[in-house]
Amino acid sequence: MSYPYQITSYEAYKEAYKQSIENPEQFWGGVAENFTWKKKWDKVLEWNFTEPKIEWFKGAKLNITENCLDRHIEAHGNAPAIIWEPNAPDEKNRLLTYKKLLEKVCQFGQVLKNNGVKKGDRVCIYMGMVPELAVATLACARIGAIHSVIFGGFSAQSIADRLYDAQAEFIVTCDGAFRGAKDIPLKNVIDDALIGNHTIKKVIVCTRTRTPISMLKGRDVWYEDEMKHVEEQGITFIEAEPMDAEDPLFILYTSGSTGKPKGVVHACGGYMVYTNYTFINVFQYQPSQVHFCTADIGWITGHSYILYGPLSAGATSLIFEGVPTYPNAGRFWDIVDKYKVNILYTAPTAIRSLMGFGLGPLQGKDLSSLKVLGTVGEPINEEAWHWYDEYVGKKQCPIVDTWWQTETGGILISNLAGITPAKPSWATLPLPGVQMVLVDEKGNEVLDEEGSDTVGGNLCIKFPWPSILRTTYGDHERCRTNYFATYPNLYFTGDGALRSKEGFYRITGRVDDVLNVSGHRIGTAEVENAINMHSGVVESAVVGYPHDIKGQGIYAYVVFGNTHGDETLTRKDILQTVTRIIGPIAKPDKIQFVSGLPKTRSGKIMRRILRKIAEGETENLGDTSTLLDPGVVDEIKRGKI
Ligand code: WT7
Repeated sequence: MSYPYQITSYEAYKEAYKQSIENPEQFWGGVAENFTWKKKWDKVLEWNFTEPKIEWFKGAKLNITENCLDRHIEAHGNAPAIIWEPNAPDEKNRLLTYKKLLEKVCQFGQVLKNNGVKKGDRVCIYMGMVPELAVATLACARIGAIHSVIFGGFSAQSIADRLYDAQAEFIVTCDGAFRGAKDIPLKNVIDDALIGNHTIKKVIVCTRTRTPISMLKGRDVWYEDEMKHVEEQGITFIEAEPMDAEDPLFILYTSGSTGKPKGVVHACGGYMVYTNYTFINVFQYQPSQVHFCTADIGWITGHSYILYGPLSAGATSLIFEGVPTYPNAGRFWDIVDKYKVNILYTAPTAIRSLMGFGLGPLQGKDLSSLKVLGTVGEPINEEAWHWYDEYVGKKQCPIVDTWWQTETGGILISNLAGITPAKPSWATLPLPGVQMVLVDEKGNEVLDEEGSDTVGGNLCIKFPWPSILRTTYGDHERCRTNYFATYPNLYFTGDGALRSKEGFYRITGRVDDVLNVSGHRIGTAEVENAINMHSGVVESAVVGYPHDIKGQGIYAYVVFGNTHGDETLTRKDILQTVTRIIGPIAKPDKIQFVSGLPKTRSGKIMRRILRKIAEGETENLGDTSTLLDPGVVDEIKRGKI
C-alpha cells in the first residue's frame, strides 16, 4: 500500500495545512477517497458547535473492519497483523496474520450473533491484553455492535455504573489477567458488577489464567466453546455490516470534572479516516514496519494506535500483555530487540520510571531497528525527553510528542516524525485540519504579542476534525455543557497551553479539576465521592501535586469523625473504599486528616490553597481574606505529609 496523503516535507505540511483550512471539505474528501466505502458520501461535512451537531461523510456506508482487514488480504494476507507478547517472557508468543485475524474476527462476529447480539447493541469488553481482546473489539465493529472497552483496573462498582449508563446487554471478559507479578480476577469482578444488574443477557468468558470462576447457567458461556461451534459449522467469513458513516463505532468512558464518567461516542467514518491519517503522518509509517504502542486497549490510545490506526494502514501492531518492569526493567528493550520494533509509542510516566533503573537494563539490547519514538498522555519533562532521545533513540530517532484526548479520537497536535521540527516538551504544531485557538478567561482570543516570545491561554478548537466526539452516550446535553458551552462556538479541551511565535504549542496541563496520574485521567470529584462513601468521613477535598514518576499524585484532605486513634489503619480503610468504588488506579498517594477545609463564606472549598499546600508551598498562598476560618489553613500547613 502507498499513501498519497503521506506528508514528506515541512513544505508539504505547510501546504496541506493551508489547504485543510481553506477548503476542509475538499481536503478530507480527498483523504477519504483512499478507503473502502460501500457507498460514497453525499456531503463531507455538516456542523455547528451550538447543539453540537457534527456529521462527517454523511450518507456514506462503510465498515471499518473491511478497511482494517479485508482490503489488506490480497496484497499481504500472510503479513503479521498482530504480534502478541505475553506477560511472562518464557511463555510462547503468538502471531496473527491479516488472513488469520480476519477469520477470527468473522468467527467471533458469528459467535456474538449466535448469542443474540444485534447491530447497535452495546457490548462491554473487560479483558486483559490478549489477542482475543483485539478479536472481540473488531468483531463488534464487524457486526455493527457498539463496543465499550473497560480498562482492567476499574472496580466492579465502576463497571456496574458503565453497564447501566450504556444499557449494555452483553459482556466479553476473561477468567483473569496476568499483569506483572499480579493475577487479576476479571470474571469475579464482573460477577460482582452484575449483582442487581437487569440488562446483561450473556457473558462470554475467554480463558487465560485458569483461575477458578463461577459460570452461571444460561448467562455465562465459554469463548472457546462458542468459537469451536462456529468452526465446526465451517464458518470462516461473514459479511461486514454496512454502517452509516455517522453510526456509533464505540463508547469509551472518561472522567471529567463532575462526579460521573462520561461515555464518549465516536462515529465509524470520521474516526476511521482520522486515525489512519494521523498514524501514517505522525509516525511516518512505512509499509511492513512493526509498531509497538505500549498503552492498554482499554484507553483511547490503544483503540486508535494499537487497533484502528495501524491495522487500517496494514501495519504490524504489537500487543504486550505485561508491564515495563516485569520481570525486570529491560522488558521493553527486550521486546524491541526480539521483534525489531520500528516505532515505539509510550507514556512519559513509563520513561521516567525506567530512567530510575539507570542504563543497566539497556545494555546488550539491540535497539537499532527503532526509527521513530513517540510519547502521549501528559506533558513530557525535558529530562525524560533527552533520556529517551539519547539512550533509546541513540539520537537517531525523531521523537513525536502527541497531544490529544479521548474526545478527540486521534492526535491533534504533534510534530511529524523527521518532517516537522521537534522541540523538547513542546507538542509543536497542529495537524492538518486542526484549528487551535487560545482564549483568556472571558473567552477572548489570545493573539501573538509584539515583543513576547510566547502567549498563554485556555486551549480551544474552532473547527471540527473528522474524529471529534459526536455526543456523550445517552445525554447529549452533557456533551454540550461539558465541551461546547464554556466558550461559544468553540470546543474547549480543558487544557491550558502556551504558543510560541512559530505557532508551536506547549501543553501546560489541565485547567479544570481533572488530574493526570501516570497518563490516566481522574476527576477529583470522583475520588472525593468515593472517599466520602467511607463511613466516618465527613467531607474531603482532593487535589493533585507534582510526582516524580506519575506526573501528578493524588493528595486527599479528609475530615474524619473519629479515627479511634489509629490513623494508619483508617488511611488503609479509605484506600480500600476508593479501590472498591473506582479501582486501584484512583487511590490517593497521600491522605491528610484535617479538622476542617478552607472555605469561603458561601461554603466553597478553596482548592487553590489546598493545591499550593500539597505542592509544598507554605508562604505565598495568595488571598486568604475571603476565608471563613483562616485558622484552618495554619493547621493544614502544620499537618502536611
Ligand atoms: C489529557 C487527555 C490521548 C491519549 C491519552 C490520554 C493530557 C495527553 C498530552 C501531551 C501534554 C497531554 C492532556 C489531555 N495529554 N497528551 N502530549 N502533552 N498533555 O487521554 O485520558 O483523554 O487525557 O491528557 O491534559 O487533556 P485522556
